[in-house]
Amino acid sequence: MTTTEPTREYDPLDISSQEFWAKPPAEREETFAELRRERPLSWHRPAETDLLPDPDAPGFWAVVAHADIQAVSRDADTFASGQEYGGVMLEDAPEDVLEAAHSILAMDAPRHNTLRKVISSVFTPRRVRQIEDQIADQARRIVDDFEQTTGTVDFVSTVSARLPMWTISEMIGIPDEKRTEIADAAGAMVGWNDPDFIGDGDPMAVLLNGLMTLHTACFELSAARREEPANDLMTALVQAEVDGDTLTDEEIAAFFVLLCVAGNDTTRQTASHTILALDRHPEQKQLLIDEFDSRIKPAIEEFVRWASPVLTFRRTATRDTEIRGQRIAEGERVVMFYHSGNRDETAFDDPHTFDITRTENPHVGFGGGGVHFCLGSHLAKTQLRCLFHELLTRTPDIDVGEPEFLSGNFINGIKRLPVTRGGTS
Ligand code: HEM
Repeated sequence: MTTTEPTREYDPLDISSQEFWAKPPAEREETFAELRRERPLSWHRPAETDLLPDPDAPGFWAVVAHADIQAVSRDADTFASGQEYGGVMLEDAPEDVLEAAHSILAMDAPRHNTLRKVISSVFTPRRVRQIEDQIADQARRIVDDFEQTTGTVDFVSTVSARLPMWTISEMIGIPDEKRTEIADAAGAMVGWNDPDFIGDGDPMAVLLNGLMTLHTACFELSAARREEPANDLMTALVQAEVDGDTLTDEEIAAFFVLLCVAGNDTTRQTASHTILALDRHPEQKQLLIDEFDSRIKPAIEEFVRWASPVLTFRRTATRDTEIRGQRIAEGERVVMFYHSGNRDETAFDDPHTFDITRTENPHVGFGGGGVHFCLGSHLAKTQLRCLFHELLTRTPDIDVGEPEFLSGNFINGIKRLPVTRGGTS
C-alpha cells in the first residue's frame, strides 16, 4: 500500500474536530454547503478521536456530492470496506472492535456476498410483508401508551425508540427481559462520542462495555437456539452453513451487534427527526393527514432524506484512481457524507425544503447503492409507515419542543425531544 502524500495541504474548513461534530446539524450543513459549492472533493486532517488517538493517522478525502457518493458506493472493487483496510468508520477503531461489531459492513467480496446471503432472505419485501401485521399491532400499542401520557414527555424514549427495538428483537428472537439492556448497549455503540454516554468514563470503556453486553447476550441466545431451535433469525444463524462450515460464535455475535445497532438506532432517529419536521412544517403534516394512504410512500423517502440518520461511512482505495479528475492514491481513505449528498442542490430541487410530495427522491440515506446498500430498508420503511399511521390518525395534535442532538460523526441523533399531546399540558 502506498502512503499519503505528505505535502498535500489540509482543507481550511474543519470537518474533523469533535467540536465540529458537537454542533447542531443545521450549522454543520453550512460547512458542507460550502464544500459542495467550492470543493466537492477535499482533503482533510484525520478525525479527532479519543478512541484510538494516533498522531500519524492519515487524512481523508471528503466526498460530499450526491453523484460522487453513488459512484464510490457502487465501485466496491476500487473502494473497499474490509477490516484489513481499517473498516468503514471515519475514525480508526481497534481491530478487535471492528471484528466483534461490524460483520458484513466491514467486509469485501467474496466473503461479504456469501455472508450477506445468509441473512438477506429475512429482509426481503415479501418477508417483511409477512410480519407487517405484527409491526402495525406493536405501533398501535406504543401509541396506546402515548395516548395515556399527560404533560410533556420525551418522544424518543416514549415512542421512537420502542418500535425498532421491538421489531429487531422479535426477528432475532431476543427474550423480553433482555430487550432494554440490549437496546441501551446498542445505543452506547454509537454514542461513545457524546458526553451523556461517556460521563466520567472514557469512550473506549463505553464502547467495550456495550460490546461485551451484546456479545454475552448473543452467546446465551445462540446456545439456547442450538439446544432448541425456534422460528427466528438466531436459529437461522446457528444453522447456516457457509462453504460447508457453520458460522463461529464470534461471527454470529458480530452479526448480532450489527443488526442490533443498525436495526435500533437508524429507524428511531428517523422517527424523531420526522415528528420534529412535521411539527415545523404544519402544511406538510396536513397534506399527509388528509391523504395518508396515497402520500405515505413518497413521504417516507423524504423522511429518510431529511433525517439522514447515518452521517458517514469510509472506504479505502484499493488502487490508484480518480474522483472528479483528482488522483486518489491506493491506500487513501475516502469518506462519504450522506447528509451532504441528501442536501446536494444538483440532485434535488430545493434540497433544504422538507417536501413530502417530491416525485423524484434519489436520496442516499440507505447508502449510495451497490453491494452494501442497507439490508433493512424495507423493514425500516414498514416501521415508519405503521408508526406514523397511528400517530397521525390518533394523536395528530402534538407540540414538539427543542431537540437535544447527539454529538459525533456517525449517527445524526436526537437524544431527547420533548413533546406534549394537544390539550394535556
Ligand atoms: C431509516 C433506517 C435506516 C437507515 C437510514 C439505514 C442506513 C444504512 C446505511 C447508510 C448503510 C450502509 C450502506 C452502504 O454502505 O452502501 C446500511 C447498511 C446496513 N443496514 Fe441499514 N439503515 C436503516 C435501517 C436498518 C434496519 C432496520 C436494519 C435491520 C436490522 C438495517 C440493517 C443494515 C445492515 C445489515 C447493513 C449492512 C449491509 C452490508 O454491509 O451489506 N438497517 N444501512
